[in-house]
Amino acid sequence: MKLILITIDGPAGAGKTTVSRSLAKRLGYRYIDTGALYRGVAFEAKSKGLSHDDDVGLENLCMSLDLKFIFTEEVSHLFSNNKDITDQIRSPEISMFASAVSARPVVRRYLLDLQRDMGVGKGVVFEGRDMGTVVFPGADIKFFLDASSRTRALRRYKELASKTSLTIEEIEQDINQRDKNDSTRSLAPLKPAEDAIIVDSTDLSADEVVELMLSHIGKHMY
Ligand code: DC
Repeated sequence: MKLILITIDGPAGAGKTTVSRSLAKRLGYRYIDTGALYRGVAFEAKSKGLSHDDDVGLENLCMSLDLKFIFTEEVSHLFSNNKDITDQIRSPEISMFASAVSARPVVRRYLLDLQRDMGVGKGVVFEGRDMGTVVFPGADIKFFLDASSRTRALRRYKELASKTSLTIEEIEQDINQRDKNDSTRSLAPLKPAEDAIIVDSTDLSADEVVELMLSHIGKHMY
């Protein structure tokens, strides 16, 4: 069967990660979480005390960075200069800082080539914000996964579980702020590609979303 490249874009907490991982598994594909790359840059920038708009500092940082995924059966680990930073990049502070640095052209330029290299050979599900619009405009099939902001906040709350002292309301505020940043930035804003299939997951389980996507993919492949 021919290998294809699939993109899944959408706002924070829409269920992209769960769905992308499960879809990739069903297809026997690799799954790339591009948000983790922005979080990796944010984590390193914060560790060095850089401000989100220090373009010179960010450019120097990117030039010395070596970000890569190491894949195991179930999960992928993000390594930065050979250090496993998978767990450190998931805090609410890094989420917000990643959203801020992702608006800087120097950061997007650096990650663009890295992401495209990971797509060579196809057989990949890419998850992010601009996968179908900027990074892979020629992707074989594009999805835009959305859900109401309350549903997205609830999902994030459950995901963070004991790791956060934030309330659902605070998480919803964070998510709304991040969506605003991500969709109003001038470069590669969060928006559906013109040829994307829009999926609203507010009232759907992750399994139902995956089945729906597989039915679209099936139509495309045969
Ligand atoms: O998917 P995530 O929440 O892990 O992403 C963290 C931030 O990275 C998000 O707020 C915006 C940015 N991002 C981006 O600008 N482009 C992508 N392709 C992926 C993420």
